[in-house]
Amino acid sequence: MTALGNNAPIGVFDSGVGGLSVLRAIRSKLPNENLIYIADSGNAPYGDKDAGFIAERATEITQLLLTSGAKAIVVACNTVSVVAIEHIRSWCPVPVIAIEPAIKPASQHTKIGVIGVLATRQTIASPSVARLCEAHGKHIKILLQPCPGLVEQVEKAELLSDATRALLVQYISPLLAAGADTLVLGCTHYPFLTPLIRDIVGPDVTIIDPALAVAQQVARRLGDQLASPAQAQPTNAQFYSTAAEEQASAIISALWGQKVTVQGIN
Ligand code: DGL
Repeated sequence: MTALGNNAPIGVFDSGVGGLSVLRAIRSKLPNENLIYIADSGNAPYGDKDAGFIAERATEITQLLLTSGAKAIVVACNTVSVVAIEHIRSWCPVPVIAIEPAIKPASQHTKIGVIGVLATRQTIASPSVARLCEAHGKHIKILLQPCPGLVEQVEKAELLSDATRALLVQYISPLLAAGADTLVLGCTHYPFLTPLIRDIVGPDVTIIDPALAVAQQVARRLGDQLASPAQAQPTNAQFYSTAAEEQASAIISALWGQKVTVQGIN
């Protein structure tokens, strides 16, 4: 690949704004890379939709990122990863990096032997999660907790509201009552709720967000051949959303931590 090719962007997408938690880890691990992010917020949440719809959206968005010149695709959505990753990898000509609930690291971390997994309904019910539980749950208890409604709260940037807290308490309390000492954030929207989750679980429960591990995997897959050289110019991040532009710009700016202009797409 030419030097220009190395400067091609990494394409990252999610059902909505949650994947920004992965994007910020990629930005911090790979500061020389240009980034394109697509939020399918107009169709979020994916977690309650059927697998066919999710696979179709994931295919269309991946194609759009490739058309924009992406040199690698990061599926910053657990739900898409568990439903459609094999399909995307079967035809996508560039490296595809996926995310999955961090059940393995949590199983290695727990001292008590009880972990809780927070994720969407689709993720919790997926064969991928069943496989992870089978592989890493022999000597520990894994409590799987679907969390309908949480993605919507993050999409509204309600990160600290009473309604969000009430949902979190509802989902987390049974896990704490069962003795969980480690919580897996199995949806990329949930890291934005970490301050509330920490407040609910207290200081002794470990919260695992796999975003940094994904960024490290992106770095490995780029290797020397695809990695961008040190930039004289500041790198850019472009944002697209299927939600209304003004609303998307406000929410993405708030979560990204800097004012950005989001372009609307269908
Ligand atoms: N951020 C997505 C995930 O990691 C949320 C999916 C949804 O929209 O329900 O699963």
